Amino acid sequence: MKKLSIFGFMAAFLVLWASIASAAIKLPDPQTSGGMGLFEALKLRQSAPGGNFPKGELSAQELSNVLWAMSGLNRGDSGWTVPMANGLPPYVRIYAATKDGTFLYDWSRHSLEDISDKDIRADIGAQRFAADASCILILVEDGGTLAEQYGDETVETEFANVAAGAMTQHAYLAAAAMNFGARYIHSMKIENIVSSLRLPETDRPICIFLLGK
Ligand SMILES: Cc1cc2nc3c(=O)[nH]c(=O)nc-3n(C[C@H](O)[C@H](O)[C@H](O)COP(=O)(O)O)c2cc1C
Repeated sequence: MKKLSIFGFMAAFLVLWASIASAAIKLPDPQTSGGMGLFEALKLRQSAPGGNFPKGELSAQELSNVLWAMSGLNRGDSGWTVPMANGLPPYVRIYAATKDGTFLYDWSRHSLEDISDKDIRADIGAQRFAADASCILILVEDGGTLAEQYGDETVETEFANVAAGAMTQHAYLAAAAMNFGARYIHSMKIENIVSSLRLPETDRPICIFLLGK
């Protein structure tokens, strides 16, 4: 009887493990060569108009490229496309809200972790047009990690905002290089974001970033 219950526990554990493992969606490898030159992309960088935001979906490759540009590994196991204070791993997380649900970008595996299958795009921007974007990135300060390192809220907020600026500028340049629309948005429904993403108290939404083509 005792043996059976141990086997039962192990079976439940394996099912749970399998479901957790399958909740990660591997992205295609990011493009790391070719494409438009940096200076040409700088010349083209702009925000797509909010009122007429492009509604088309990005391909998996385009999404992979833009996420990698924002905080992907570019030098082995601990070097990223954006600078982070003290060389810490990225302390601004990127969530992606799409019609298929909400995901968290895992830079270490270059994959998307399933957060929920709910489409929250219409609930998180304060401006109505945000709902038109095929993908809304939500940048969130990982306050727990920063507090452990610095223990000074002013410094932590500043460092997270600097990182978010670098990340979103990379996203703008990637969008220019691949010819799709992007827009930084500060006006967001913070309470809805916190509850939809089930954020701990330490974590702070910084901005949302619309993508579409
Ligand atoms: C810090 C910051 C906050 C912004 N917040 C919003 C916003 O809440 N809503 C919006 O429609 N655009 C927002 N934008 C986009 C700007 O309006 C846009 O970047 C600006 O008009 C300049 O256009 P450009 O990016 O094409 O140069 C924001 C941009 C920045 C940098």
